[in-house]
Amino acid sequence: MTQIGVFDSGYGGLTILREMRKRLPQYDYLYLGDNARAPYGTRSFDVVLDFTWQAVEELFSHGCRLVILACNTASAKALRTIQQNFLPMKYPDRRVLGVIRPTAEVIGDITRNRHIGVFATPGTIQSGSYTMEVNKLFPDIKVNELACPMFVPLVENEEASGDGADFFVKKYLGIILEKDPDIDTLVLACTHYPLLFPKIRKFAPENIRVIAQGDLVADSLADYLRRHPEIERECSKNGTVEYLTTESTEKFNHLASTFMKKEVNAKRITL
Ligand code: DGL
Repeated sequence: MTQIGVFDSGYGGLTILREMRKRLPQYDYLYLGDNARAPYGTRSFDVVLDFTWQAVEELFSHGCRLVILACNTASAKALRTIQQNFLPMKYPDRRVLGVIRPTAEVIGDITRNRHIGVFATPGTIQSGSYTMEVNKLFPDIKVNELACPMFVPLVENEEASGDGADFFVKKYLGIILEKDPDIDTLVLACTHYPLLFPKIRKFAPENIRVIAQGDLVADSLADYLRRHPEIERECSKNGTVEYLTTESTEKFNHLASTFMKKEVNAKRITL
């Protein structure tokens, strides 16, 4: 069985996996959450690269031929080195894809006035990846990036819909709109942030489109598999999902079952 590997530092990648399952239900997926070492968003480049590569190799060892880094921080800090150095040297027949490029590709069709905002982890913002990727494709778009360090802890601690979250949602919206009051599109460039979507939608001005990445990444995966029949052919198709986590399975099973609306029985592993 060759599953499609989906990796995130914790729970955030489930927002991507859920959309992949909706769009491409026929495939088998293997999700790995490095919950024991999350969050990645405040870690250095070298550490994120190290942890991400360990996770990718773990997914390869389970037979995955294709791995999606469903984590912006890992995509920003580790993807290029993995694609350009590690894979050609060690696994020339395997593929690793990220979430930043698919998001950047569609942004030009969404913004009307060419002013966008990007909410992400400190690590993603520090890498400058969004401005770089968006401007490579659409040099006329003005990209305003903002690190939102309190969002991931709110999600990981099940406080995304609590009253405490209101304060930080309003605070970060205030800062980004002060930087650029003309923003018409706000990208939630961290896979944890869609869990805060209802609050961000509630407090953001109505004219701003708030974009979560799940369906963009799912569309991009569908397109990738269409263009790479040699990989598509190898993906097994029984419609299953399995979960691995580096933390205790109890909390993972509880949160993932609620989020995926299906009973989850994860297996604990060590990286
Ligand atoms: N889910 C990760 C992302 O998309 C960040 C979470 C973390 O900081 O570990 O950037």
